[in-house]
Amino acid sequence: MFFISTRRTVERFRWSKMLGGKNAMSRGRKRFLLLYLLLMMILPGTQALCAENAAQKNAEISYDQQTRIFRITAADTSYIFGVNERQQLQSVYWGQRLFAGDTIAAVQSAGGSSSFDLPINATQQEYVAWGGGLYVTPDVKISFGDGNRDLVLQYVSHQIEGNHLSILLKDVQREVFVTLTYTVDAETGILARCAQVENRTKAALTVEELNAATWNLPAASDYQLDQLTGKWAGEWNLQRSLMHPGKIMMESRRGSTGDEINPWFALERGVAQGEESSDVWFGALGWSGSWQIAIEQDYAHQVRITGGYDGFDSSYRLAPGESLQSPTFYAGFAQHGMGEASRLLHRYELHTLAPQRAHWHPRPVLYNSWEATGFDVDEAGQEALAEKAASIGVERFVMDDGWFGQRNSDHAGLGDWNVNSKKFPHGLKPLIDKVRSLGMDFGLWVEPEMVNADSDLYRAHPDWVLNFPGRPRTEGRNQMVLNLARPEVRDYVYGVLDHLLSSYDIAFLKWDYNRNWSEPGWSSVAMENQKKVYVDYVRNLYGILAQLRAAHPDVEIESCSGGGARVDLGILQLTDEVWPSDNTDPFDRLAIQNGFSYAYAPGLMMSWVTDSPNWVNGRATSLLYRFLSSMQGSLGIGANLKPWTAEDFKTAKTLIAQYKQIRPIVQQGSLFRLIEPNADSPYAVTESVARDKQQAVVFAFLHSSQQGLAYPPVYLRGLDPEASYRIKVLDGSLNGAVPTSASGSFWMHYGLHFNLRGDYQAAALLLEKEGVQ
Ligand code: DGJ
Repeated sequence: MFFISTRRTVERFRWSKMLGGKNAMSRGRKRFLLLYLLLMMILPGTQALCAENAAQKNAEISYDQQTRIFRITAADTSYIFGVNERQQLQSVYWGQRLFAGDTIAAVQSAGGSSSFDLPINATQQEYVAWGGGLYVTPDVKISFGDGNRDLVLQYVSHQIEGNHLSILLKDVQREVFVTLTYTVDAETGILARCAQVENRTKAALTVEELNAATWNLPAASDYQLDQLTGKWAGEWNLQRSLMHPGKIMMESRRGSTGDEINPWFALERGVAQGEESSDVWFGALGWSGSWQIAIEQDYAHQVRITGGYDGFDSSYRLAPGESLQSPTFYAGFAQHGMGEASRLLHRYELHTLAPQRAHWHPRPVLYNSWEATGFDVDEAGQEALAEKAASIGVERFVMDDGWFGQRNSDHAGLGDWNVNSKKFPHGLKPLIDKVRSLGMDFGLWVEPEMVNADSDLYRAHPDWVLNFPGRPRTEGRNQMVLNLARPEVRDYVYGVLDHLLSSYDIAFLKWDYNRNWSEPGWSSVAMENQKKVYVDYVRNLYGILAQLRAAHPDVEIESCSGGGARVDLGILQLTDEVWPSDNTDPFDRLAIQNGFSYAYAPGLMMSWVTDSPNWVNGRATSLLYRFLSSMQGSLGIGANLKPWTAEDFKTAKTLIAQYKQIRPIVQQGSLFRLIEPNADSPYAVTESVARDKQQAVVFAFLHSSQQGLAYPPVYLRGLDPEASYRIKVLDGSLNGAVPTSASGSFWMHYGLHFNLRGDYQAAALLLEKEGVQ
C-alpha cells in the first residue's frame, strides 16, 4: 500500500507550519519568512527546497515494485538502494553507470556476526534514526517529552517527479515522519539530498541531530581520504590519509563554515594511477553554519559518510505540526580520478548552483583598496586610486573597510553603517560618480553581522549580540557577533544594506565576517528554543541575502570571512564569488588556489595582485609572477598603485588585456592540475580547456632552479587529439624548436618545454584550434 503525497501537499504543509501553528511568529517574521520561502523558489537549490531545481533531461529515476529497488542514473553514474524486509532503506550500489538490463535483486538486511553486533549496524542504512540498537552515526536523533529517545524509521511511500525522488519514512509507532529528497543533476550525476523531519504527534519533541544524508561506499580497504584544512591566511591545504576502520569526525562548532576544515571530502581508490585515473566519491555540504560530516569504516571495511547540522550544543524543538529541514548534502562519483571529480563539481557549481547559472558573464577585473590604504580611506585618496586603476583596464573599483561610523581602526565603528562625514563630507556620491565616469562600476565593503563595543549600535542594543546574560563576552578583532536569529537584528541588517543599495549606485558588496562565535546565547526566546540559534541565524543570513538579491537584482556579492572561512555550497548559491584567503603572497597562493580547486571552481575565486615584498612572508616577486598567479582565478588588483612606475602600469595594462582575452577559459573551462605545487617540487602547472575544446590556457611556475635542471616536459590534457592547435606564448618562452601549431595529440604526448630558470619565474600560453579567430 502506497501513500502518495504530492510535493505540493508536502510544501503547503511545510509552509503552513513554518508560518503559523501554535508557536505563532510575529507578523514581521511571518512576512519575512514568506518572502524568504518565495525567494527560495526563485533561487533553486537553496536549503529550503533542495528538490526544486529546474527539471533536466537525461537522468532517470525508477522504482521496481517487485524488488522494491530504486535506481537513479545520470551522466556516468548509477545510484541504487532498496527497501528491505524490515522496511528499512538499504544502500546497494553507487558508482559507474550500470545498464538498464542489469537486474538488481531485492535487498535483505545483514545479520550481525554476534550479540555485540546488532543487525541494524551491519546493514548499509540509507537513512537511519537513533534507535533499535544503532551505534553508528544516526541521521536523526530525537528526544520526546515522555523520556523516550528511541526512533525506528520505516518506508511508507515515495514519489518520483522528473529528476526528483522523495521518500516518506515514519517511526514504527509514533507520528514522526521524515521526508527524504533526492535531486539528480543530469549533466554531472551529482545528487543533492536533504531530509525534513515532521512532528505530527500531539506533544513537542526535540531534534538533537539532523543530518541530510548518509552515503554508503563499496567495502574496500584501500580508500584514501582527501580533506581541505587550514587557518587564517593558510587555507585550503590538501590532506591525504589512508582510511582505517574507525570514525573521522569533520566538524565546525564555530557558528559558520570555518577554515579549519572545509565541509568537503573525497574518497579515492586506485590513487597510485594518478590524478586522472582513480575512482572517486566526493561530496560537500551546503550549509554556512556549524556542520558535521562523520566518516566511518567498520570491521567489514564498509564506509558510510553522514553529514548535516552539527550536533554539538545545538538542538531544535518542534511543537506539534512543526517541521525542520536539514541542509543539503551534495555528492557525486568520478571514474577518471580526482581531476574529473573537481571538474564535475566546478560544472555543477557554475551551471546548477551559482546565482548566475543561467546568465553567466565573466567576473570583472576589480581593484580593492584594502592592502593599499587600510582604514585610511577618504574621497581624494580613493579617487586618485580609481584613476590609476581605470588606466590599466580595471572594471570594478571596490572601497574596502574604513568608510563608515568611527572606523579608523578595528576598534570601533562596526554596526554604524552611516558614511563617515570627515572622510566623505559629501557622502559617497562624488566618489561613485568619479568611478562611474572612469568607466568602472563601484563596490563597497561591509561586515553587517558584527558590532564593535565602541559603536552607537552596541551602546543602543548591547543585548543584540550573541551572549549569555551576565557572563563575559569574548571579543575577536575587538568585535562581537550580532544575533541574526533575532527578528529585530535581521530587520536592522537588511534595512541598512537595502538603504545603502537604494541610496547609491553600488554594483558589488564585499560581505566580510571576521570572527567565529562565542557564548552563543539567545536569551530573548524561551529556554527550550535557545539552541535553535545555530539554524535560525543561518536561515536569516540566507534570507537577507536572497531578499537583497531580489530587491537589487544587478548587485553582485562576494563572500569573505577574513579570507576563505565561509566558502561552502550554501553561501555559493547566494553570492557570486568568494575570497579564498587573506594571504596574497603569489607563491603561497599557488598552493592555496590548488587546494581550493579540489572543491570549488576557479571562476568563483577572487585573486588579487598585491605589493612586493608581500606582507605575509616578506617575499619579493616580479609583477609578472604576481599577475600570472592571480590570473588562475578571477583577477583583482590590490596593490598600492601610487608608487607604481610607468613600466609597472604598462606591464599591468598588457596583462589585464591578456586576462580579458583568456578569462572565459580560466573561469568557466575544465581545469587540469598538470603539476601540483607542493613542498617536494619547484614546479607548478595548470591548464584550463574551454568546454568546446577550441582553446586552452596554460600557466607554468618555477619556485627556484636547482642544479641547472631544465623544466620538466609538460603534457597537456583534454584537447581534441586530432585537431590542430596553434600555440601563442603570452608570457615567458618555450625551449627549443617548438612548432607553432601541432595536433592535440602532439601537445598531450610530446609535450611542452618551458624555458624557465631562476627564482619565482612564470609563463603563460594560449592554444587555439586552427581556424578559430
Ligand atoms: C578581512 C578581509 O579578508 C580583508 O580582505 C579586508 O577586507 C579586511 N577584512 C578589512 O577589515
